[in-house]
Parts: sequence; structure tokens; C-alpha cells
Amino acid sequence: MIVTQYVSELRRLRSELPAPVGLVPTMGFLHEGHLALVRQSQEECAATVVSLFVNPTQFAPTEDLTNYPRDAERDVRLLEEAGVDLVFAPQAEEMYAEDHETWVMVDRLTRRLEGTTRPTHFQGVATVVAALFHIVEPQRAYFGQKDAQQVLVIDRMIRDLHFPVELCVVDTVREPDGVAMSSRNTYLSPDERQAAPVLRRSLDLAERLWQDGERDAEQIRKAMVEVIEAEPLARLDYVSIADARKLDEIHVIDRKAVVSLAIRIGRTRLIDNAVLPPGESLLARSSPCS
Ligand code: PAJ
Repeated sequence: MIVTQYVSELRRLRSELPAPVGLVPTMGFLHEGHLALVRQSQEECAATVVSLFVNPTQFAPTEDLTNYPRDAERDVRLLEEAGVDLVFAPQAEEMYAEDHETWVMVDRLTRRLEGTTRPTHFQGVATVVAALFHIVEPQRAYFGQKDAQQVLVIDRMIRDLHFPVELCVVDTVREPDGVAMSSRNTYLSPDERQAAPVLRRSLDLAERLWQDGERDAEQIRKAMVEVIEAEPLARLDYVSIADARKLDEIHVIDRKAVVSLAIRIGRTRLIDNAVLPPGESLLARSSPCS
């Protein structure tokens, strides 16, 4: 496995890899969720490239960029053990020239859900992912359903800008108590960590109500809010039941929907989601990577 921080070297090494090449973009501090994407890529691609880059432009000035957990040495060791071919771990100056002023903005989709509290977040995500696609030129790119809106935004960008990249979505990997794995879970105190399964509990309830025939989205939202409010350490940011293609809120669940929520526990913001009907994949089209 070769690790490089330079675009020119990455390009040279990448040109020698067999096709198809799978790219797994990450911000490092790897956990089993990231490694599930890596394994999926390895199963489906001839070579796998992983990027490790805490992308500053997707953090607002008030957010956790400087505190974001980092452990590059451990990340590299895990990727080496996993059998990854190439790792791209650039410094911020390598990705963003001092006079950088080009942005990729996916419009309507990014104003929903996460966009309401994090209005500049997805512009940073789309820009860095577009840059990574140009640098690595993968045939496939692997993203986690954990960040469902991110998947939809990247899917839109790929189609709108005609990137020759196939987007592959991997199911959310969870801890035994249902908490979605996330680098940010390390911020939680033991008490807060104990409160975190409330996200999954409220999603479970939404799925159960849907299975019992409830199609009134407002009833399901209300029931989910009650679950969150019963947890004293949790503060609700949003609960959404939205059309799975456009992320518009819906009243009647008469098509594929994404149920998503964001809460704060202490100073940590956690998100999670589920697709209705349960078990359906997030993206509409079938692909060899599903
Ligand atoms: P990061 O949070 O490091 O996540 C990298 C990838 O791992 C994302 O596609 C995310 O959805 C996926 N992932 C995270 N937790 C997961 C879990 N529990 N199960 C399955 N997949 C999981 O998302 C980002 O980084 C950044 O926004 C990035 C796309 C790298 C752009 O900077």
C-alpha cells in the first residue's frame, strides 16, 4: 500500500491501477463503518483508493474542525491491514490553493434537513468530492447510507455534471445497541453515550408504525418526537419524513421516503436515518454495486 499526500504522485500511481478503481472518501479516524465501504469496494473493484482528508470547507466557523478526531497512523495501519492499494492523505494546501474560489453548489437538495442548520456544509462536501473525483478518476465511489442526504447530493452532482462515476451506497454499520458508528461518537461522555440509542429507537418506532399500516407522516413524526423528548439528555434538532428523491417533506407516505433526524446530546450533534419501506435501498436505480 502506498500513502501519498501529493496530487501529482497520486495521479501517477493511480494510472497504474487496474480498472475498475473504487474510491472511498473519508475524513479519517476510521471505524467499522468506513471499513465496510472499503470491503465493499474491494469486493466489486480491481483496486481501491481511500482518501483521508478532514475537509475544512465543510465545517462552519462555529463547528468542530479543530477538535475533529484524528489518528493518521492508526488509519494507515487499518487500511494496510485491509489490503487497500493506495491512500491519498493530502494537506489542506494541496487540495485548496491559497486563492481557491471555485465551488460546486447543489442547490435545492442542500437547503433541506442538514442544510437548515449547516447552510454551507454541502457546498464544501460537493466541492471536495468533485475534486477527489478529478484527482482519483474512480469508476466507482462508495458512500454510507448513514449520511443519506450526502448520498443524494453526490448522486445529483454526478448526474448534473456528468461525472463518469458510479455511486455505491453501503448500509449503516451500528454498534450492538443500535448507535450508528461515527467518528463524532468519541465526543460523548459515558452518560451521553448511554442516551445515544434514542436515535435508533425513534427510527425503529417509525418503521414499526409504518409496518402496522400508518401512512400519515405527521403521526409518525409526532411519535418519534415523543421518544426523543423522553430522553432528558437529548435535544431535538429536526425529525423529517421526506420524499427519497427530492427530500421534500411529505404528508402521506405513498412513495419511498427517508425518515431522518438530528439531535444534540451535550455538545455533540448526531444524525441517523431509515428508508421506508424498510429494506429498500436509498437510490432508485439498480446497480452492480448494490
Ligand atoms: P466521514 O464522516 O469520514 O465518512 C466517510 C464515509 O463513511 C461517508 O460516506 C459516510 O457516510 C460513511 N460512514 C460513516 N459512518 C458510517 C456508518 N456507521 N456506516 C456506514 N457508513 C458510514 O462523510 C464524510 O466523511 C465527508 O463528508 C466526505 C464524504 C469524506 C467528504 O469530505
